[in-house]
Amino acid sequence: MKRIFSGIQPTGEIHLGNYVGAIRNWVYLMEEYDCVFCVVDYHAITVEYPVQEFKKRIIETALILLACGLSPEKANIMVQSHVQEHTELAWIFNSVTPIGEVERMTQFKDKSKQHRSNINMGLMGYPVLQAADILLYKAGYVPVGEDQVQHIELSREIARKFNSRFGAIFPEPQPILSGAPKILGVDGESKMSKTLNNYIGIMEEESAVWEKLRTAVTDVNRVRRKDPGNPEICNIYTIHRAFSENDTLLTIDHGCRSADIGCIDCKKMLFENVRAELNPIREKAFALQKDTDYIIDVLKQGASACSKIAKETMAEVRNVLGLLIP
Ligand code: TYM
Repeated sequence: MKRIFSGIQPTGEIHLGNYVGAIRNWVYLMEEYDCVFCVVDYHAITVEYPVQEFKKRIIETALILLACGLSPEKANIMVQSHVQEHTELAWIFNSVTPIGEVERMTQFKDKSKQHRSNINMGLMGYPVLQAADILLYKAGYVPVGEDQVQHIELSREIARKFNSRFGAIFPEPQPILSGAPKILGVDGESKMSKTLNNYIGIMEEESAVWEKLRTAVTDVNRVRRKDPGNPEICNIYTIHRAFSENDTLLTIDHGCRSADIGCIDCKKMLFENVRAELNPIREKAFALQKDTDYIIDVLKQGASACSKIAKETMAEVRNVLGLLIP
């Protein structure tokens, strides 16, 4: 069975971008692939984070993955730091990764601007650890949002460089994109993200979700209600595509272009559809909050299954590197 690996950072709030760009796809893919889904805590420490809250955030992230429909019977759900081989392999990959390649990563450049006072080695090595995450399990497929495609390309290059120098151990992984691989924030400008505070969280109160949608930027050229709009450049329409049926999309497309439908009406329809999809997830998440022991068990089970695979890969890697086996 083909193997998939993907990960999510425990940054505190999972937003619509994470959900439609990645997690919802994971739920479908889990049916057909051998999957590892990982809460990547070591990636999250490359920027400032609230240490006291971190444990809670890690558990909360796993909880939301389960609430979204991931099942421990069908996929391995684990925490990155619970399988120590991730960081071990990352160190080894550091030695085959040209510095120029990591320096040109868009995410490194963006994060360096956002965190000027703390541009650390971890931030630079972020995609190398990501390559280690994937290749430790020899995963051939990586379902991610569009923003991560460059990192998956680098993973392929790292695999290629390692294989050509030490022997063909690793596959060259391919990204799998969802139907909505890039969701902009409510500012209509930048990628939806926690850091930019332009997100709609999937656990947010309905009133807060509506307030964010109501004030979200649409087609900026549509100034007055009677102006015709262009759905192709409207982020609200992009989000509609992820949550609404084809007939609604057609109605909105025509109504927006002819100015028969205003932005508020369009947003109300979107709100209803988002609400219909997220409500069961929120309910399940609230129920799971009362059972953190279950979440911990799921993560233990995931780490134990993943450790076995990780140990096998690392034995091969240490052997081809010519290391002395203790
Ligand atoms: P993270 O936590 O930043 O994002 C998790 C997933 O959500 C996707 N995503 C989006 N998709 C569409 N529109 C958006 N606005 C949006 N924002 C986020 C991301 O593309 C990602 O798929 N570096 C990874 C975590 C990681 C990983 C890995 C992924 C670590 N190791 C190995 C795959 C394989 C990340 O971006 O996490």
